[in-house]
Amino acid sequence: MADLRRALELVRTVADFPEPGVLFRDLNPLFADVGALRTVVDAMAAALPADVDVVAPVEARGFLLGAPLALALGCGMVPVRKAGKLPAVAARVDYQLEYGTASLELPAEVLREGQRVAVVDDVLATGGTVAAVCELVERAGAEVVAVSVVLELTALGGRGQLPGREVQALQAL
Ligand code: PRP
Ligand code: HPA
Repeated sequence: MADLRRALELVRTVADFPEPGVLFRDLNPLFADVGALRTVVDAMAAALPADVDVVAPVEARGFLLGAPLALALGCGMVPVRKAGKLPAVAARVDYQLEYGTASLELPAEVLREGQRVAVVDDVLATGGTVAAVCELVERAGAEVVAVSVVLELTALGGRGQLPGREVQALQAL
């Protein structure tokens, strides 16, 4: 617990990024510290149900957590990518960002019907990204059993986009 608190204290707050008035939470100092990274991945793994079949992290920062988390859980990983990167696409979802829209894609023929999936990202902000990943997983006939993030920025109301979902955050700010 003390280790987890120390790890989370490494998150750096940067004012006025990506635009004036925004306080950006930067996890890079945490990622750069092997003890902190291990502590955070182990805490995410411990909170998830034991019978997760696959983790679905989202590009880009979700990948940094998804791969070690899959190894910690002893399961596979289905990376969800920004549009235009995948050679074979199962499904695409367009979603709202704070300003503008974006698209995410699920790779073809890797996620199987009925698989139990943990959606993984570094930060839950408005919730648009994670909601889009959940939609992709469910379109493939798989089940979202939990959403796991390091930080939840509560003022941005991300949980409101994820009604009825099990949302696990190591820290709410
Ligand atoms: C950030 C973050 C989450 C998302 C959270 O990614 O890593 O994926 O925004 O925001 P939301 O809850 O409002 O959707 P970003 O799109 O900046 O991409 P990156 O990981 O490539 O930096
Ligand atoms: N930090 C990291 N990612 C984010 C943030 C933030 O403050 N807001 C939206 N995505």
